[in-house]
Amino acid sequence: PASPVEPLHTVTTLPTARRPGCPFDPPAELLDAHRHGPISRYSFPDGHQGWLVTGYDLVRAVLADTRFSSRKELMLHHPLIDYSGVEVPPAAPGEFLLMDEPQHGRYRKPLVGKFTVRRMRQLTERVEQITADHLDAMEEAGPPTDLVTAFATPIPAIMICELLGVPYEDRGAFQEQVVSFMNGETSDEDLFAAYTATQQYLAELVAAKRANPTDDVLSDLTDSDLTDEELQGMSLILLAAGLDTTANMLALGTFALLRNPDQLAGLRADPALADQAVEELLRYLSVAKTFMRTALEDVELGGQTIEAGTALILSYSTANRDAERFPDPHVLDLGRRAGGHLAFGHGIHQCLGQQLARVEMRVAFPALVNRFPTLRLAVPADEVGLRPETADIHGVKSLPVTWDI
Ligand code: HEM
Repeated sequence: PASPVEPLHTVTTLPTARRPGCPFDPPAELLDAHRHGPISRYSFPDGHQGWLVTGYDLVRAVLADTRFSSRKELMLHHPLIDYSGVEVPPAAPGEFLLMDEPQHGRYRKPLVGKFTVRRMRQLTERVEQITADHLDAMEEAGPPTDLVTAFATPIPAIMICELLGVPYEDRGAFQEQVVSFMNGETSDEDLFAAYTATQQYLAELVAAKRANPTDDVLSDLTDSDLTDEELQGMSLILLAAGLDTTANMLALGTFALLRNPDQLAGLRADPALADQAVEELLRYLSVAKTFMRTALEDVELGGQTIEAGTALILSYSTANRDAERFPDPHVLDLGRRAGGHLAFGHGIHQCLGQQLARVEMRVAFPALVNRFPTLRLAVPADEVGLRPETADIHGVKSLPVTWDI
């Protein structure tokens, strides 16, 4: 491990691809940085000297410490692009993922009660029904199919749209726009267009809910002192955070199960394994792979002084592969107790929708693998296209699968 007297390992750029043949493992450069120690220096493209935190204990410590900020306007240094001289605006009202207390709490508090374990369990039947409908449609259309569009994306999209109260007929366009935010492949121009269209749509939706409240989270929130603009920002965060993440877990998770047939067989044989299997897949895949923080004051961390104003890249994916926390970390073992993983983050920003995501995955994985006992890839594994590393959320572009009929 690195000690303060040894020169620290320095990483100069985040990788833009995973090692061929290793779609589930963090990129080699990050694992290599971690081999030098749980914290490395990181040279940002604009010349800023910041930090890359790869170890489980240190990532968790940063997330639990409010001296490390999530405020958007402090995130001046992009890990891959030199934005020197470009002013970063504060988060828009309601975009609480990118705020600290007390602003963050103003938005998170009214939502917490709507996403509790109990409330999400009540949705299980609905998730089961939506899942069964999509499996029926797959069966009817016959093999092969793209699992991303036939199964992995629509299930979380329908759930988050129903929770928020997005009318059924608006879902299609909407789903496409939200996915385009996170796939790392949308041109700046298209990104701007998708963002503007989504904002416009959400503004109209908030106005409609105020005029005619229905039975959903957004309508409930109109009965508070939150402004239309704030409700719009909150909805955007919920959509962006709730759709693409779970969709990629379902698709990449199925890919991982198909590449680990003994683990898949275990899950098929014992549906009671589903809860544990979901935690292990979350740990192993860490689709939400890196987040940024900025030090608000000088802080001692892992034997280093993190100076006020410096940027930290937190690698959740290597933290979840830290051998000191998870023995044989690169092995997918559905039998292990993977609880305590950081796939949903930790601290005040810990994923608000984690219970919803869990319900969706606990239902969808066993239902899929049991409906199609011969499910397999329809192309060689190395032809499955991965999202580029620049995407916020890791995943596959599509997952061609087939089965015997
Ligand atoms: C925050 C991951 C599903 C809503 C987060 C964070 C992570 C995460 C890592 C923390 C970010 C940070 O540290 O700054 C995931 C994964 C999911 C998932 C892996 C699926 C498997 C969902 C769903 C929803 C949701 C279904 C929607 C209902 C949110 C929100 C936040 C958040 C609102 C911001 C919380 C805050 O700032 O207080 N998520 N998420 N997520 N997630 Fe999720």
